[in-house]
Amino acid sequence: MVHGRSVGKILFFSELSDRSWPTSLQRAMPDFDVITSLDGTAKEDIVAALVWKQPPGMLQGMPNLRLIQVLGAGVDHFLADPTLPHGVPVARLVDPGLAARMTEYVVLHCLSLHRRLPEMLQNQRKRKWNYIHPTPTDRTSVGILGLGALGSRCAEALSRLGFQVSGWSRSRKEGLGIASHIGTKGLENVRRQSDILVLLLPLTAETENLVDGNFLAAMPDGAALINLGRGKLVVDNDLIQALDAGKLRHAVLDVFRTEPLPPEHPFWTHPKVTVTPHNSSATNPETAIPQVVTNVQRALSGEAPANLVNRAKGY
Ligand code: NDP
Ligand code: OXD
Repeated sequence: MVHGRSVGKILFFSELSDRSWPTSLQRAMPDFDVITSLDGTAKEDIVAALVWKQPPGMLQGMPNLRLIQVLGAGVDHFLADPTLPHGVPVARLVDPGLAARMTEYVVLHCLSLHRRLPEMLQNQRKRKWNYIHPTPTDRTSVGILGLGALGSRCAEALSRLGFQVSGWSRSRKEGLGIASHIGTKGLENVRRQSDILVLLLPLTAETENLVDGNFLAAMPDGAALINLGRGKLVVDNDLIQALDAGKLRHAVLDVFRTEPLPPEHPFWTHPKVTVTPHNSSATNPETAIPQVVTNVQRALSGEAPANLVNRAKGY
């Protein structure tokens, strides 16, 4: 605050985030005026916009905008807005809290699939005593598509538990202690050997519908799929067919083509599908706000913000 006057307005827009965000942001950035609505605001006063699933067109006409900070990891919905201003840096969150919650979810479900918990729960409902022999983790291969901020943390955690872990990304990853693959051949290798395949890819033109019938046919018989990236990575009907045919034994799905998942969607009642409501992880203000504050400071002092989104690559 300069002589009691704000040095600029920061627009916060998210209908999904923790309600404490605006108050916590205002406390962390006392020199700025944090606003949650454009009503009655001159758009030229806005210097930074912190947004999650903003309505298309919201960020138009802000001549002094220096930073757009997306309040999440994925930017597919953000980049789908055809009216985004050009030339304003866009950053996304790389939040240790987000990675920690995602790692818990991946470990939880990989252990559950490895120890065949979904089948045992089905058996219990039928009062069926079907002894399934426990096996060590090193007999189970987990493939992770996407070794970014989230996938790499999950890979390390699974590796520590003794799983055989491999991963696929655009660029090769060293130092994760797992087999790192790239390119079409690399994808084939990971998919062919994964008893459990975890999707932690962003949704881009290159990854949309990646997991279709041909892809699933090339996985080992009886494999399982965990989709945490975005619903559109997977072709729903092809997945259902693979489950019904016994090619796949289970799918754990946290993200869907339409969210909330419509009540009539077959995933809800499919015996081989676990549905969770896009809550495998979430950004939380305590761990994310410090980097948002730093990014606003960097952008306003002419430095490049951290965790910039590459608009051409789409993530
Ligand atoms: P990052 O951008 O850090 O990582 C993305 C990874 O995918 C990178 O390893 C990247 O390769 C790889 N990748 C991207 N495109 C390709 C491609 N065409 N071929 C091969 N590899 C590719 O993202 P995060 O780890 O932070 O998040 C991943 C996704 O998870 C988000 O985009 C979002 O959709 C989803 N998500 C879901 C949440 C949920 O609650 N379900 C919560 C948060 C995120 P490289 O490293 O070489 O660039
Ligand atoms: C994200 C998400 O991308 O929560 O941050 O899906």
